[in-house]
Amino acid sequence: MDLRPFLDTALSAAFVARGIHQLYQDKGFTQSTKSTPTDVVTQADKEAEAAIRALIEQRHPGHVVLGEEGGQEGEGEYRWIVDPLDGTVNYAHGFPFYCVSIGLEVRGEVVVGVVLDTARGELFTATKGGGAFHNGRPIQVSQSPKLLGSLVATGFPYDVARDRENLTYLERVLFKGITVRRPGAAALDLAYVACGRLDGFWEVKLNPWDVAAGRLLIEEAGGMVTGIHGEPYHLGNRYLVASNARIHQELLDTIHGRL
Ligand code: IPD
Ligand code: CA
Ligand code: CA
Repeated sequence: MDLRPFLDTALSAAFVARGIHQLYQDKGFTQSTKSTPTDVVTQADKEAEAAIRALIEQRHPGHVVLGEEGGQEGEGEYRWIVDPLDGTVNYAHGFPFYCVSIGLEVRGEVVVGVVLDTARGELFTATKGGGAFHNGRPIQVSQSPKLLGSLVATGFPYDVARDRENLTYLERVLFKGITVRRPGAAALDLAYVACGRLDGFWEVKLNPWDVAAGRLLIEEAGGMVTGIHGEPYHLGNRYLVASNARIHQELLDTIHGRL
């Protein structure tokens, strides 16, 4: 299948979304909360998603869209999976680590992935079997052979105050002396694993729009993505461990307190 027209759509949509992020970052935005007082949604999230949907509908009538803010209507062989603004809390504070993430799934398999970092303009792209790229140049995961000395990242769900699960994992990793970051935009965290800036990443309670594009980036860059117990990953699994493949087992064993 020629994926170029779809990649082209994903790119156009990502740049439109980035423009909307920038517009509201400049002129100010309204915001409200969703599941918890820290689960924020801004005008930029909503307008970016609306613009992405409009562009996809115009170019590919009949394709289904799953978006964080608007959900999904209907079913179909072609499904776009969209996080219009990943890292909204960072965005709302002007902390420059947020992005747009767009994946295209065809008959259950993600075949195109685009993550665009709004603040830096860094573009991460992948197509199934076609490799992963950063600003058009091929990327590979890191070569780090062991966890100690690696740089890994995680994230926390909005209900962290009610559920300590990831604090348990984090404590185990930190207590081994491993360096951990919490950048705050899962799709971009995954892109950082793909390009070797991070050696690993894990998170609990992710959603398909956080993962669709980033997972393809990592796999196309030679890395590994599994569930939290090392099982094959399927989109919809809310628990994810990603790495450069070399440190994967050690990261899993550390998270589960086996090391
Ligand atoms: C969130 C970010 C964050 C992660 C959360 C996500 P949002 O997405 O990716 O890093 O820890 O689990 O929900 O709400 O900013 O799109
Ligand atoms: Ca997200
Ligand atoms: Ca979002």
